[in-house]
Amino acid sequence: MMTQKAPFITFEGGEGCGKSTQAELLFRRLLQLGIDAVSYREPGGTKGAEDIRSLLLQGEGERWTPTTEALLMSASRADLVAKRILPQLEKGSWVICDRFTDSTLAYQGFGHGLGYDPLTELNRFTVGSLTPDLTFIFQLNPEVGLARTALREGGKDRYEQFDLSFHSRVEKGYEEILKKNPQRCVPINALLDIEMISQVIFEEICKRFEM
Ligand code: TMP
Repeated sequence: MMTQKAPFITFEGGEGCGKSTQAELLFRRLLQLGIDAVSYREPGGTKGAEDIRSLLLQGEGERWTPTTEALLMSASRADLVAKRILPQLEKGSWVICDRFTDSTLAYQGFGHGLGYDPLTELNRFTVGSLTPDLTFIFQLNPEVGLARTALREGGKDRYEQFDLSFHSRVEKGYEEILKKNPQRCVPINALLDIEMISQVIFEEICKRFEM
């Protein structure tokens, strides 16, 4: 049984919602305040998990079945949790994660239609009782999000190739997650400007963790 000595904060949302920028801004702000913090992205964060990330994000949409995808996401997560997240929380470092178990619920559960309950079970098997203390869910019309990612260099990854109806189901999934977890999850209007969002996030953190 691990003893968690610092907050675990996750960032979630559909494509192009700006959560990675905000995770990075928060990470830097915590460091500037002299707070011990680490930041990871999912899938990824360890050598093995980054290898799995390449398998998942490259190639054609049909490269993996939805079930294989869910299992690969979970394999990557199991490595990150065991090797990085749990040890860091135990030693008292804040952990920021760009995506976590809610992504599997939204993308594989809703996007691919594998269902909320089976993937909640899979998440439990993968991470045990580890649950983020606070999750920011970025809300953005998927059409707007996909238009934003189309402007990025480097071409489309596997998920950006899935059609609009897939991404609309992902967005609905996040709405459901918000409804089911009103204490843990805070909605963020992804249309606000970067500075404003960063301020909203920091204020929420100060309130929650008495800073
Ligand atoms: P990113 O675009 O935030 O870097 O995330 C990589 C992609 O992986 C993104 O399209 C969402 C997808 N993903 C899932 O489908 N399920 C998961 O559990 C995770 C962590 C990511």
